[in-house]
Amino acid sequence: MVYNKPDNTVSYQNGVAAMMPHPFVIKKIIKCTEDTFTLELKSADNSSGLEFAPGQFNMLYVYGVGEVPVSISGDPTSTKTLVHTIRVVGTVTRALRRLTVGEIVGVRGPYGSAWPVKRAEGCDVVIVAGGIGLAPLRPAIYYLLAKRKKYGRIVLLYGTRTPADILFRNELEQWRARFDLEVEVTVDRGDDAWWGNVGVVPTLIPGASFDPLNTVAMTCGPEVMMRFTVMALRKKGVDVKDIYVSMERNMKCAIGLCGHCQFGGKFICKDGPVFSYDQVMDLFNKREI
Ligand SMILES: Cc1cc2nc3c(=O)[nH]c(=O)nc-3n(C[C@H](O)[C@H](O)[C@H](O)COP(=O)(O)OP(=O)(O)OC[C@H]3O[C@@H](n4cnc5c(N)ncnc54)[C@H](O)[C@@H]3O)c2cc1C
Ligand code: FES
Repeated sequence: MVYNKPDNTVSYQNGVAAMMPHPFVIKKIIKCTEDTFTLELKSADNSSGLEFAPGQFNMLYVYGVGEVPVSISGDPTSTKTLVHTIRVVGTVTRALRRLTVGEIVGVRGPYGSAWPVKRAEGCDVVIVAGGIGLAPLRPAIYYLLAKRKKYGRIVLLYGTRTPADILFRNELEQWRARFDLEVEVTVDRGDDAWWGNVGVVPTLIPGASFDPLNTVAMTCGPEVMMRFTVMALRKKGVDVKDIYVSMERNMKCAIGLCGHCQFGGKFICKDGPVFSYDQVMDLFNKREI
């Protein structure tokens, strides 16, 4: 089996093969929060080639249940396993959580566009994540840190509903301890043990240190959160062309055939999920166009 980076221009003829999930074995399951877990997968026939670009996603198939798009949350510079972090919301994600180590998941991908990590070279980088939105951004953070000298200031702003919802806690602590990375975490509602920021994540933007005229910003989270993030970034002076958002829509084929993920004139599966804000700003407030 070959786990290829697919060509995004899939024809109807090769569409059938492209729809075939490849078997991956669950090697490890990590509980992240009450409703979130991380799966580490290995190709069932040990074929190599787990390459992906930060921001891309796979279709994960639970045999007999269904298939869902999930971003890759692992390290793109070391692709020994395929890593996905998943929040349980419905039928397929619940079925994924019920799987155990050694069981098989079907995988198609990787699909979609990527965070502009190359374009950001020489610039400050601001990453704004909300909730599970930190998972699709994590590969970009790994990448930036692996090539740290190529970037100016790097700022990570992360917001969740409560302290119990904070993802990748240990890693956030390690990142916060670095002198070359500014990390701020906030929660909508604190608890007795919480001494950190309280408030939604866009409120952290005015206080963050970066040069708005030489910044590439990347944001992922609920659309309302991204909307306010974009507003705060623009208010600080970041150009719409330098702000990148990752969009979520229902998907069926993920290869540009079915039209399920259509967003105006674009398909989220092959033109996105990552777009520069100027590409999508006219449609940004509308659901399921
Ligand atoms: C490109 C892309 C990347 C994604 N990456 C990730 C990821 O890294 N991790 C992850 O956990 N999810 C990710 N998602 C979302 C994930 O695909 C959905 O959560 C999943 O499809 C839900 O399927 P389900 O069968 O479990 O739920 P369904 O049975 O389809 O839905 C159950 C209920 O949950 C609601 N719902 C569906 N999706 C969401 C959602 N995202 N948030 C809140 N409520 C929802 C539905 O409206 C419905 O009411 C991504 C989606 C896209 C398009
Ligand atoms: S999911 Fe079928 S066209 Fe995008």
